[in-house]
Amino acid sequence: MSETPLDQMTLETLLAQIAAADLAYHRDDRPIMDDARYDALKREAERRGAVFMQVGAPVAAGFGKIRHAQPMLSLDNVFAPDEFSEFCARIRRFLGLDATVLQFVAEPKIDGLSISLTYQDQKFIRAATRGDGEEGEDVTENVRTLPDLPLRLPEDAPNFIEIRGEIYMARADFLALNATQARPFANPRNAAAGSLRQLDPRITASRKLSLFAYARGAASAPVAQTHFDYLATLRRWGFTVNPLAEPISETQAIDFQARIGALRPDLPYDIDGVVYKLDDLALQDRLGFAGRAPRWAVAWKFPAERAITRLEAIDIQVGRTGALTPRATLTPVNVGGVIVTHATLHNEDEIIRKDVRVGDMVEIQRAGDVIPQIVAVLSAQRPPDAEPFHFPDHCPICGSLAIRPQGEVVRRCTGGLSCPAQVVERLIHFCARPAFDIEGMGEKTVREFHALGWLNTVADIFTLPDLEAKIARLDGWGALSAAKLSAAIRARRRIPLARFIYALGIRRIGEANAKLLARHYGQFAVWRDAMIAAQMIGSDARLELGVISGIGPSIAEELVGFFAEPHNLALLATLDAQLNIEDEIGPADNTPLAGKTIVFTGTLETITRPEAKARAEEAGAKVTESVSKRTDYVVVGADAGSKATKAAALGIALLTEAEFRSLAGF
Ligand code: IVH
Repeated sequence: MSETPLDQMTLETLLAQIAAADLAYHRDDRPIMDDARYDALKREAERRGAVFMQVGAPVAAGFGKIRHAQPMLSLDNVFAPDEFSEFCARIRRFLGLDATVLQFVAEPKIDGLSISLTYQDQKFIRAATRGDGEEGEDVTENVRTLPDLPLRLPEDAPNFIEIRGEIYMARADFLALNATQARPFANPRNAAAGSLRQLDPRITASRKLSLFAYARGAASAPVAQTHFDYLATLRRWGFTVNPLAEPISETQAIDFQARIGALRPDLPYDIDGVVYKLDDLALQDRLGFAGRAPRWAVAWKFPAERAITRLEAIDIQVGRTGALTPRATLTPVNVGGVIVTHATLHNEDEIIRKDVRVGDMVEIQRAGDVIPQIVAVLSAQRPPDAEPFHFPDHCPICGSLAIRPQGEVVRRCTGGLSCPAQVVERLIHFCARPAFDIEGMGEKTVREFHALGWLNTVADIFTLPDLEAKIARLDGWGALSAAKLSAAIRARRRIPLARFIYALGIRRIGEANAKLLARHYGQFAVWRDAMIAAQMIGSDARLELGVISGIGPSIAEELVGFFAEPHNLALLATLDAQLNIEDEIGPADNTPLAGKTIVFTGTLETITRPEAKARAEEAGAKVTESVSKRTDYVVVGADAGSKATKAAALGIALLTEAEFRSLAGF
C-alpha cells in the first residue's frame, strides 16, 4: 500500500484503506500495514467526521461449547524440595502407605494450552479447550489441521477415549510468525492461543502448531496400568509424546529438576517447570481430585525470574469488596522475556515492613502468571529526598473513610455500593468468564455504561437490551454490535447455581467454594433460605453451614454478613425474577449414599480416613465430623468411642467398614 501523505487523500480513499486493513488484520490475520500507519489513517478519517464501529476480537465469538466427559483440571504448584516432599507425604497419608518410596513419571511442563481430544470408534471426533474445566470451546476443525494429530487410532484403542495434551508453538515457529505480524505476539503461548482460536481453520493451518499428548481423560476401557505405559501406548498410536518424560523415584526429583532446568534454555519450546505424576494408575484413581487439582500430580515450577528497576509511583486501587490495594508503577523492565510495568505491593504492612519509597530501586520477580512482586528494596541507592509512603485513610475513589478492622491486614473503603470503584469492580466480576461470561461485556464496556448511568447494580445488566437503540448510537458501536450484546445477555439468563453464587462476588467465595455451596444446597431458593436462617447463631442452618467440608468459620461469616444486608436480599429477589437459576445436580445422585450424611469414627482397616471421606463424597454423600439427628450413617472402625455410642442412642444406622465399601461401590 503506497504511503500517500494523509492530507492529500480523499475521505473515500482513507475509508477504503482502513477497511482493507481491518479485513487483512481481523479476517485473514495478515496485516498489510503497521499500527502507526493504521492509527494515523483512522485519526485523519475521524478528524474529517468519520465514525467507526468497533472491530476486533474476531476470534472471541463463534465457538460452540463442549462439555468434557471428565473435567479438565489444573495442577497444584510446588517451588522447593520441602514442598515436593510434603506433596509425597500427603499421598502416603492418603493411601496409608508408610515408608514406601513413590514412583513417578517426570515430564517437562509445556507452556502452551491444554486440549482434550475425543475419539469415538477409533476416529478423531472433537477437540475442546479447557475452558472452565467442565466446558471448553469446540476447536475441532482447527485442531484437525495439526500435523501431529492422529486422525485414526488402531483397532486396540477403546471405543471411546479422551486424550489430553498441550498445544504449543515451537520457539522458532513463534519467531518466524512474529516476523510477519504488524502486532507481534508477546510469547509463544499467546501465539499458540491466538492461532488456535481462529474462526477460519485455514488460518490455524497456516500457523505451525505442535502437540504433545500427556494425560488421560475419560475412556470406555483402561489402556495401561502405569502412566509410563500409557505414554508408550499414545506414542504407538501416533501421538507425539515428550521424549524427556522419564520414570523416576521420588528421591530423584531434585536431580531431574536440575537436569531439565539446565536443558531449558536450549529446548526448542518454552517450559515453566516439571510435572511429576504418580506412575501407578490404580493409585492415581484412588487418590482422585481435590478441588481443581489431582492429588496424584504436581507441577514443580522453576524459580521466578528477577530484575532491578525504579519504583515510579505507588497508587491505590479499590477492589469490588472495597479493599484498598497498593500497586507499584515501575520503569518498564524486561523480566525473563516479558516487559513488566507494574508490581503488587500487597498491603499497608508490607509497604511499612519493606519501607518501600517512591524513587527507590527495587528488585522484582515474576513467576508464571502471577502478578510480579517486589522482593527487595536497594536502600543503599535511595535518592536523598525519598519520603516514607503514607497509606491513605480515605478511599481515593469516593472519599469515604477507609478503615482497617483490628487483626486484619486490609484497609477497606466504607462507601459500599455508593463507591463507584466497588460497583464497577463488582459489575466486571459479575460479567467475567467464570461468572456470567457475557460476551461483549468486558471491563471497558462496563465502565462506559456505568459512566452513562445505565449500570448501577448487576440487575441492570439484564435490562440493557431495552437500551439497544441507544447503545447502537454510541461511539464505536453500531446496530450489529448492540444486537449481539443484547443476544449475549439474553443467552445468559439461564445460569448454573454455582456460577450464580460465584458471580455475586461475596468475599472469600471463589469458584471452588461457590461449587461446594451449590452442590450442598442444590437449589437457589434452598440456599437463600438457609443463609437467611443461618443468621441466627445456634440455628440448625448455621450448624449445617459449619459442617460443609471446605467452608470454614470465616467463610460462613462472610455469607451470613452478605445475607444480613437488606439491599443484597432485594438484589437477589430482582435477579431471581430476571433469571433462570439452574439447580445443581450433585456429583452422584444414583448411588445408595447420594444425599446421605455420614460420620466416620474409629480406625478404618483397609483405607485411610481422607480416602474414605473422598470416596463417600464421590458417591454423593456429605461427610461431617459430629453425630446429630441429621446423620444417616455412622461408619464404625476399630476402637470407636463416644460417636458410636451417641449414634446408637439416636437410633442412627451403624455401618461396618465393609458395608460402607459396598454402599460406596468400591
Ligand atoms: S498433566 C490432571 N502434564 O499445565 C492433570 N499438564 O498447570 C492434567 N501442562 O492445565 C495435566 N505440560 O495445560 C500435564 N506434561 C504435562 C503438562 C501439563 C503442561 C499444563 C496443562 C495444565 C497445566 C496445569
